[in-house]
Formats: sequence, C-alpha cells, structure tokens
Amino acid sequence: MIHDLKIRESRPGDAAEIERLYVDAFPDEDLVPLVRELLDFGPSVVSLVAVREQAVVGHIGFTFCGVEGGNDKVALLAPLAITPSLHRQGIGSTLVEAGFIQMQQAKIGYVFVLGDPAYYSRFGFKAEDKVTTPYPLPAEWRGAWQSVALHDAEIPHAGKLSVPKPWHHEALWTS
Ligand SMILES: CC(C)(COP(=O)(O)OP(=O)(O)OC[C@H]1O[C@@H](n2cnc3c(N)ncnc32)[C@H](O)[C@@H]1OP(=O)(O)O)[C@@H](O)C(=O)NCCC(=O)NCCS
Repeated sequence: MIHDLKIRESRPGDAAEIERLYVDAFPDEDLVPLVRELLDFGPSVVSLVAVREQAVVGHIGFTFCGVEGGNDKVALLAPLAITPSLHRQGIGSTLVEAGFIQMQQAKIGYVFVLGDPAYYSRFGFKAEDKVTTPYPLPAEWRGAWQSVALHDAEIPHAGKLSVPKPWHHEALWTS
C-alpha cells in the first residue's frame, strides 16, 4: 500500500485535477463531460479523491440510483481513475473500499458497476442479470455488468436501473 495516502470527499477546488486524471487514465475516451456533470450534480453523487503529497492521484464516484418498479436503494460505481504512474499500488482498491463504507452508511444495499470483471471480482462483484442497464449494452460488454451486495440486503426488484440525469446519455452505455 502506498504511503501517505489520504481519502476524502472531493471539493470544488479539486475539479481540474480530477478532470486531468480522466484525460490521463482514459486516453481513448472523453469522460470529462460526465465527470463535470457528476461533480456538479449534488447530494446524489458521492465523489472521493485519493490525495498524496497534496496532489489528487485517484478519484471514484458513486451515484445513488433506484430500480424501476421497486424501492431499492442502490448505487452505481463509476467512474474510477488512478494516475497511470501509480497503478497497481492499491489506490483503486482503497477508494473502492472507502466508497463501500460510505454506501453502507447511506443504507445502500447493492452497488452496480460496468467494468472489467478481472478487476471488480476482487471486491465481490458478480455478473448481474436481474437488474438491467438503462440502455441495452453491446453484446461484448454483457459480462461487464456486475453487482455486489454490501450487507444482507434483499435482492433488488428485477427491472431497469433508474439513473439520474448525468447517466442519461445513451452513448455512456452503448459505445
Ligand atoms: C483500473 C484501475 C482503476 C485500478 O486501480 P489501481 O490503483 O491500479 O488498482 P489496485 O492497485 O487497487 O489493484 C488491485 C489489484 O487489481 C489488479 N489490477 C489493477 N488493474 C487491473 C486491471 N485493469 N485488470 C485486472 N486486474 C487489475 C492489481 O494487479 C491488483 O492485484 P493484486 O492485489 O493481486 O496485486 C486503474 O488501473 C486505472 O485507473 N485504470 C485506467 C482507468 C480504468 O480502467 N478505470 C476503471 C474503469 S471500469
């Protein structure tokens, strides 16, 4: 584990450093518009940064969501990025685990993610087929849609994940 790493909620003054992280960590994708919308979205988004030597070296977002037709309190984990020169030193895992603690405090029972199972399975994520994405995923991404129960929460109602506005852009789910 990297030394002197501090995890805290992001502040408005972190925005430029957070955006830079996504430019560096995702050279082929422009996640900056999504990140800006999430940072401005207010209390339904939990945004945490990892800080080392006063520099933001990692960021994770969680968005509170629902499931259409049910009353489930669930969340979507995304996005997540770490400074490329500091990959594989435990920063991503530290942010995921810190986020889970906050989700449990907020009484969130299930967290969903669209990501690489090779990475997310270590946190207990498993393929999800009852709750579906807001838009149909391309066939090659289907195994990437996963969920984890944070405590002995009831399995969510079957239905489509109901997401707030920053997640309404179809391209986030289909390309
Ligand atoms: C994926 C990412 C967030 C992981 O963060 P990180 O700080 O490098 O991850 P950690 O150091 O906590 O990794 C924990 C474990 O996962 C492994 N791991 C890291 N990235 C991985 C990947 N892409 N695929 C599979 N395993 C991975 C590490 O080797 C480590 O394994 P170990 O504990 O057995 O040694 C980071 O590499 C990143 O920002 N990548 C570019 C952006 C991205 O892909 N974000 C995720 C979007 S779904």
